[in-house]
Amino acid sequence: MTPPRAITIRLAEPRDAQAIALMSRDFIEAGLGWKYDASRVMRAIRDRETLAVVACDAKSGAAAARGAVNGFALMEFGEERAHLVLLAVRPSHRRAGIGQRMLEWMLESARCAGIASIHLELRAGNEAARRFYRAMGFYETVLVPGYYRSGEGRKEGALRMLRVLRVPGPLPAAWRPPRMEDR
Ligand SMILES: CC(C)(COP(=O)(O)OP(=O)(O)OC[C@H]1O[C@@H](n2cnc3c(N)ncnc32)[C@H](O)[C@@H]1OP(=O)(O)O)[C@@H](O)C(=O)NCCC(=O)NCCS
Repeated sequence: MTPPRAITIRLAEPRDAQAIALMSRDFIEAGLGWKYDASRVMRAIRDRETLAVVACDAKSGAAAARGAVNGFALMEFGEERAHLVLLAVRPSHRRAGIGQRMLEWMLESARCAGIASIHLELRAGNEAARRFYRAMGFYETVLVPGYYRSGEGRKEGALRMLRVLRVPGPLPAAWRPPRMEDR
């Protein structure tokens, strides 16, 4: 297992699209068909409403830019809700805190963007991810039977999970114009 210190989390760049797509195919979408191929991942990386991060070998600077991609996360931002679309860590690098570090980046970005809640779904039988998200403060909301469909017509249920960051509704304004009666 790579020690956590030797991993750098950074924003994904277009040249990471292929590595991310292969990880999605192998570690998330296996048996379901491959939706997040390199061109779709590329669109997500370029999309202004999507945040994509990768976990790389090496410590910092130029070395990090060349390091192998060992994990990634993609999150789509709405007005008040964000959707954590994909998150995976290479099996050789799991249980080293990398998933947690990428998710913390996402959570911090969501807080800064005024997001009220983060939503995700995962395959109902994915016990490792369920435990991971529970440990990260998410809770289960609903089980959706037959949510995932493979090319061969196989269906699989999805478990929806949620993490609340703040009470929904408009954010209190940080600045108010002075009123006459305040003088
Ligand atoms: C789920 C996943 C991303 C976790 O990544 P990770 O880097 O191994 O997770 P972390 O090391 O940051 O784990 C943080 C905490 O989550 C919990 N956790 C993570 N994996 C767990 C597992 N397999 N079993 C039980 N708890 C687990 C633990 O509490 C862990 O803390 P600890 O190691 O100190 O006990 C990883 O297993 C993975 O890539 N799975 C395949 C892809 C996937 O299912 N993605 C989610 C759906 S999109």
